[in-house]
Amino acid sequence: MGYDLDMKVWRGDASGGELVDFTVEVEEGEVVLDALHRIQATQAGDLAVRWNCKAGKCGSCSTEINGKPRLACMTRLSTFEEGETVTVTPLRAFPVVRDLVTDVSYNYKVAEKVPPFAPEPRPADGAYRMQQVDVERGQEFRKCIECFLCQTVCHVIRDHEENKPSFAGPRFFLRYAELEMHPLDTNDRRELAREQAGIGLCNITKCCTEVCPEGIKITDNAIIPMKERVADRSYDPVTWLGRKIFRR
Ligand code: SF4
Ligand code: F3S
Ligand code: FES
Repeated sequence: MGYDLDMKVWRGDASGGELVDFTVEVEEGEVVLDALHRIQATQAGDLAVRWNCKAGKCGSCSTEINGKPRLACMTRLSTFEEGETVTVTPLRAFPVVRDLVTDVSYNYKVAEKVPPFAPEPRPADGAYRMQQVDVERGQEFRKCIECFLCQTVCHVIRDHEENKPSFAGPRFFLRYAELEMHPLDTNDRRELAREQAGIGLCNITKCCTEVCPEGIKITDNAIIPMKERVADRSYDPVTWLGRKIFRR
């Protein structure tokens, strides 16, 4: 059954903008992205909103909905109270391009700095071998859809633009951890995580984990173990060597 939904949508560009009121007819079972598309179709044809899969898998439709970073295509309208106004704003940690579209290129610059997977040479029979537990750990990290919701919610850059050059952010701590914990990778990522990625600035607020649409335990399974390894290296290099040699 259809009903009228009150929305406030941020409209503007890099020079400034404001929340604009819309009342849009929606259907039961629809998501916030459906409502935005209906606004585009019926009231504001030039409303800019990025999306692609409408299935929670491309990471494009990241916005802030009633102040919380979320995927617009995975946020059901039934999440909100009857009569509640739904406010949609662009990701706060990144510069606005137009309306709900932000420039997330900071993340790609950070990604470029992470040295790629560097496996040891293949054994004589040509087959790499890994423990199942290491495979499973990597699989959790690789569920990331690069929506950057964890990046925008982290106060280290959300509230401190000046930290961006020295802070990689939770999505990339995940990547550093994935590679550091990979038993076949030969690089030591811990010094990079500390010096280049600024993992020391993370004070474990866990907001990143709370917003991750893939349910990745970013803080518990990637950041905290990575911080422990960074500390191990500072205090006990033998422990790290032992871990690599004996595959944990
Ligand atoms: Fe998005 Fe989660 Fe990946 Fe962060 S870790 S970019 S929240 S999928
Ligand atoms: Fe930021 Fe997540 Fe740490 S939100 S402070 S990276 S636990
Ligand atoms: Fe792909 Fe929302 S449109 S995640």
